[in-house]
Amino acid sequence: MKGIILAGGRGSRLYPVTRSVSKHLLPVYDKPMIYYPLSTLMLAGIRDVLVISTPEDIPQYQRLMGDGTRWGISLAYAEQAAPRGVAEALIIAEPFVAGESCALVLGDNLFYGTGLAGTLRKAAALESGAVIFAYPVQDPERYGIVELGPVRPDGYRSAVSLEEKPAHPRSRLAVPGMYFYDGQACGFAKRVTPSARGEIEITDVNRCYLERGQLRVELFGRGTAWLDAGTHASLLSAANFVHAVQDRQGLMISCPEEIAWRMGFIDDARLAALANDQASEYGDYLRRLLERP
Ligand code: G1P
Repeated sequence: MKGIILAGGRGSRLYPVTRSVSKHLLPVYDKPMIYYPLSTLMLAGIRDVLVISTPEDIPQYQRLMGDGTRWGISLAYAEQAAPRGVAEALIIAEPFVAGESCALVLGDNLFYGTGLAGTLRKAAALESGAVIFAYPVQDPERYGIVELGPVRPDGYRSAVSLEEKPAHPRSRLAVPGMYFYDGQACGFAKRVTPSARGEIEITDVNRCYLERGQLRVELFGRGTAWLDAGTHASLLSAANFVHAVQDRQGLMISCPEEIAWRMGFIDDARLAALANDQASEYGDYLRRLLERP
């Protein structure tokens, strides 16, 4: 399965902070924001990832992450010239995806919780159709919303309806920015027409799967944290969350080097080299992993 991270957009809700820095490079406590969605894909076992950003910002992502070799993965980059909607990522990624299955994750979405890696790996093993997630929120009008149907024979929930930012939501279950698709997704995205806000909505791609009876929904319960970092308040909350958990446990959330090492993408020698390359608390943490795994 291929991975796609959408890290485009103007980040205008964070102006003036994002006038000169890409939103997904801002720190969420001790790491650049993009490390979090990248870690999510790596935990799903995905090693072939396309990062989509603006033509101006791509060089900075390349400076930060290179071609992924250091983490035992492959990173490619593609441009989104203007923010035309989440589903446009699938159109841009079509040559990269090349008819395979893919996982799309939004660059400002952070996932953490019990059993998450298993849930991700199960979704990444899909052979046909799509897997999306559902997460209870207090402000459903801000998100894509799913109304759940009965449990399917495969154990996932079915969906009755999907709506993008409805004024009167039929449920308070938001659809987080992480989607697993079979090879049909790019074709579906090309058929979607722009919404009232002028964007090609990912909700419309998901609806294509729903209409064909091919949409599976995994409900995230209390044990999972889904945070986005698209506003100053949510960015601060996400940073505080990461700090609180890490400070207590001494274990990092979404550290790509650690995940690469634990997943067997890189060996001890590579981890040691990555640690020595960073004379910071972050590097100290990587060094400690080798001493006290
Ligand atoms: C996008 C999607 C929405 C989804 C959300 C998750 O919203 O359109 O369906 O629930 O991401 O973060 P946007 O960030 O474009 O407002």
